[in-house]
Amino acid sequence: MSHAVKTEFTQPKDFKFSKENMVKVELHISKYPKGKQASAVMPLLDLAQIQNGGWIPEAAMEEIGRILEMPRIKVFEVATFYTMYNLAPKGKHHLQFCTTTPCWLAGSAEVLQACEKHLGIRLGETTSDGEFHLSDVECLGACVNAPVFQHNGDDFYEDLTPENVVKVIDAMKTGKAKPGSQTGRITSMGVKGATCLHEQAKKAGVKDAG
Ligand code: FES
Repeated sequence: MSHAVKTEFTQPKDFKFSKENMVKVELHISKYPKGKQASAVMPLLDLAQIQNGGWIPEAAMEEIGRILEMPRIKVFEVATFYTMYNLAPKGKHHLQFCTTTPCWLAGSAEVLQACEKHLGIRLGETTSDGEFHLSDVECLGACVNAPVFQHNGDDFYEDLTPENVVKVIDAMKTGKAKPGSQTGRITSMGVKGATCLHEQAKKAGVKDAG
């Protein structure tokens, strides 16, 4: 495995929300009673992460503390508690692999291994060109379509195999990857195709099964 890993990054000195995002900031704050504006900390962290290309710099946490009139340490506490917030760059494509039991039973370890081999990095690392980062996460709530990874905190790629995951990565490089099932399954339809209770009942010989 070639081992090309990017580790260094610098914290920007300042962070300001864009004009467009400031409108969203005000909207989030307006959802809470006066004096309770600190409740908007989570959506503001999310906005900062999106604006900053997938990670939240310290300057952004300070700015959020200033806007919400809350101690900086409280913003840090929230940002460091949840895995959905990234406090360092995670590459252009952040792939979060679910490694919890149902995904593991469906082959997530082999899928992840194929991914590591293809990219030349291990879990927790970023490729030297800053394109891909691999993380592992707990259940993503899509166990029925296991194994699964989440892309940049939004899209799910499902029904992964060691073969199709490599194709997904190559398609991401050209912007052609399509989220969802990679075996053509429609949403969470049974792996053997659509079924309905009428058909099952007929097969079982139930009288008047429709
Ligand atoms: S165990 Fe992987 S999505 Fe639930």
